[in-house]
Amino acid sequence: MAITLTARHPLFVAEVTGVDLTSPLSDDVFAAIHAAFDRHAVLVFPGQPLTNEQQLAFSKRFGPLETAPNYAGTALRLPNEFTDISNLDHAGRILDPKDRLNQYNLGNQLWHTDSSFKARRAKCSLLSAREIPPIGGETQYADMRSAYEALPADRKQQIDGLVAEHSIAHSRRKTGFDGFNSDISTTLPPVPQRIVDHYPGGRSSLYLASHASHVLGWPVEKGRALLEELIEFATQDQFVYTHHWTVGDLVVWDNRRTMHRGRPYDPTQRRVLHRTTVSDVETAYEPAKATEDDRSGVGN
Ligand code: OGA
Ligand code: MN
Repeated sequence: MAITLTARHPLFVAEVTGVDLTSPLSDDVFAAIHAAFDRHAVLVFPGQPLTNEQQLAFSKRFGPLETAPNYAGTALRLPNEFTDISNLDHAGRILDPKDRLNQYNLGNQLWHTDSSFKARRAKCSLLSAREIPPIGGETQYADMRSAYEALPADRKQQIDGLVAEHSIAHSRRKTGFDGFNSDISTTLPPVPQRIVDHYPGGRSSLYLASHASHVLGWPVEKGRALLEELIEFATQDQFVYTHHWTVGDLVVWDNRRTMHRGRPYDPTQRRVLHRTTVSDVETAYEPAKATEDDRSGVGN
């Protein structure tokens, strides 16, 4: 069985067909998928109606999974290896738009990359579409390698080596959410992340997110302005792919080389996607202050 790749965007994103993710994959087929993931950063697998167990099995091929304990404060619908990207409560009913869990989830509509606020950041996320509203609710992806390459030389030089502080509290404050059920500054303290990552033998990439608050060693407002400017630059139309969901789609993205955001939809319609997230235990350089015990946390 050989997989087939079809470009979905001029710069990144490949559609993958010719594989059945509901059954175990041979090492050869998975190696071809992983090579495509490394190259294209976002993979779209249409027509893969996965059960939770099948999603877990495929996700674990990429590496160890994050778990997502409940820091946002309400009962959860899914086991803690999943992040619930839905507007449902723990019993499967549509949440009131004003429900604090919905308020929390609104943060997903800001450009971000998953788990940049954890010292052990995420390698990739796998998002499986279970129920999709008729209008809206797309997910957009931005290519941080192409954006980096398009920066003027003096900008590249200026930002090389800069470190930003990331925290979930920062990105959630932006949407007005302040309802964490534990002392978030203790359980998920801010972490330093480089703004530019260089990979031996690979393409360099910006590493940005709504979780990035300011630049270490710079006045807060100056750093914040730089981060906002870079995010705006990196999310220009030419760097962005918009995914219109069909039930049964699985999308896998590289959190180290892309950003993403959800688009608005009618909150009275059901939108249900299940996400698994793989820890980045393989980046060749030493991530700032990474430890083995911080692979958990709220998933976003
Ligand atoms: C995610 C995410 C946005 C969306 O799954 O990590 O941010 O489309 N999703 O809801
Ligand atoms: Mn996300």
